[in-house]
Amino acid sequence: MCGIVGYVGHRPALDVVLGGLRRMEYRGYDSAGVAVLDGAGALTVERKAGRLANLEGRLDEVGREHFGGTAGMGHTRWATHGAPIDRNSHPHRDASQRVAVVHNGIIENFAALRAELEADGVEMASDTDTETAAHLVARAYTEGDTKGDLTASVAAVCRRLEGAFTLVVTHADHPDTIVAARRSSPLVVGVGDGEHFVASDVAAFIEHTREAVELGQDQLVVITREGYEVLDFHGDAAQAKPFTVDWDLSAAEKGGHEYFMLKEIEEQPEALANTLRGHFESGRIILDEQRISDQDLRDVDKVFVVACGSAYHSGLVAKYAIEHWTRLPVEVELASEFRYRDPVLDRDTLVVAVSQSGETADTLEAVRHAREQKARVLAVCNTNGAQIPRESDAVLYTHAGPEIGVASTKAFLAQIAANYLVGLALAQARGTKYPDEVAREFAELEAMPAAVQKVLSTVEQVRDLGRRIADSKAVLFLGRHVGFPVALEGALKLKELAYMHAEGFAAGELKHGPIALIEDGLPVVVVMPSPKGRAVLHSKLVSNISEIQARGARTIVIAEEGDETVRPFADELIEVPAVPTLLQPLVSTVPLQVLAAEIARTRGYDVDKPRNLAKSVTVE
Ligand code: F6R
Repeated sequence: MCGIVGYVGHRPALDVVLGGLRRMEYRGYDSAGVAVLDGAGALTVERKAGRLANLEGRLDEVGREHFGGTAGMGHTRWATHGAPIDRNSHPHRDASQRVAVVHNGIIENFAALRAELEADGVEMASDTDTETAAHLVARAYTEGDTKGDLTASVAAVCRRLEGAFTLVVTHADHPDTIVAARRSSPLVVGVGDGEHFVASDVAAFIEHTREAVELGQDQLVVITREGYEVLDFHGDAAQAKPFTVDWDLSAAEKGGHEYFMLKEIEEQPEALANTLRGHFESGRIILDEQRISDQDLRDVDKVFVVACGSAYHSGLVAKYAIEHWTRLPVEVELASEFRYRDPVLDRDTLVVAVSQSGETADTLEAVRHAREQKARVLAVCNTNGAQIPRESDAVLYTHAGPEIGVASTKAFLAQIAANYLVGLALAQARGTKYPDEVAREFAELEAMPAAVQKVLSTVEQVRDLGRRIADSKAVLFLGRHVGFPVALEGALKLKELAYMHAEGFAAGELKHGPIALIEDGLPVVVVMPSPKGRAVLHSKLVSNISEIQARGARTIVIAEEGDETVRPFADELIEVPAVPTLLQPLVSTVPLQVLAAEIARTRGYDVDKPRNLAKSVTVE
């Protein structure tokens, strides 16, 4: 959702800001805007609904020479208050047009603030909550204790705002300064040589610097060409955490691929290897920032995994492994449902919050609820310093690198691997597995990047199939055991990318209703378990396939290499390498990602930016 970038330095600000916005396009947006301070007291703003290209077209019309400064900011908006039209796009200005503000998040008390401003005679130019902040900063800057002090004015306004927000503020009187603030919404500072940045994520400035600073909750930063200063909302000096981004520009570029998603599918072996690296040393599983002691892990009597979308599916996969390895009950819950149903939690409950972005509002609220109930929370996250890990007791980072395609691929596989590490850490601490068993499980995980690489070398057949079934009305996905969440993930990928009706079912449920959907020619994807590892399930699933085939379905079967029993029932057979049962999702998901992407491409859709979707869902 909304992307924010601010810059003060020695380069043309318009180019830096537009470049940053381009790299944050993946977050999802429906309008964009920029503001540039020219150093001579002019603050020039342009905004446009639709894609960045519309804004760029408008800048060409008005003449880019009017945006000649070396300080500025930009915004991509994902509409919450007010339709995605030009006048609701950011930046928003006060009546004097000297203050400009961009904002991410929701100002929850905006109706009261707006009423107060209107009673004061302020005329609103938009339907947004953001505009109130521009007027409030302008008012604080012209009156009282904060008069003439931009930083103090922003801090005073932040103290009045309720909700989650990132604000970036400029004032024409301060052409070499940008003030930014955050509460529960993302904001990082980029530290360059004679230049500084603020942005929703590091992708916005990665081509200029990898040195970054993670702001804390309720912190404010003032950036200038020479440096940055971090304060709290009362204007007192505050501590923020510097870090070096562990990936570079090439990771945020397509590198010759037509789409980021296709690149990210290919990066999966590396993402898995990076996620596992360093987590088994001296015969022990090691988690990253494990602020939960071994004794606490021994005391755990129940595990919840909370997450959304694909991350939730990774939790469903993990349940099989964690219960099997630790004998602890594991509940997997949609984060958006979790806190509203009063789950039974106490200090012996471990809540694993899985989130690629670390920003997902539903998951964040679930984390907060769990902590209020005294449960211990371990975040599995792909984004350094994001809000969810910050608010959790412990963090296990997936090192999948930046995921720019909206549909999760490499982060999903990395989440499965990380969740397994959590399961092994629990088994190790509780003694439900001997050290040599833990070592064997880890070695099996370590063999997975090569297995995924093997799947990737054979996907041309899947692409061809995708092109052949691209005009289907619907596709069903079936699986059992760990194949069931894979079926759900396959269906989700197809829905979001190809806008096609797709459903995933536990194959055993078929005869309890969904079999009525089967009709002549309907593609049904079946994720088979190993005939050796899960012989009973395998034979049950073969029966399920024959039932649907008899009713005219076109069966597409993902099966282990050499599984001859299933061949007669498969109209299309896609083979994946033999791996231990619990690790099968890591190989069987890959063809489903490729299938969904190819169907979407054949139907003419942009697989990186599916309609209506945002990469980071920062509203509930
Ligand atoms: C699907 C997808 C989404 C995310 C979900 C959670 O391809 O990407 O379903 O998995 O929005 O996002 P994170 O993991 O950032 O919390």
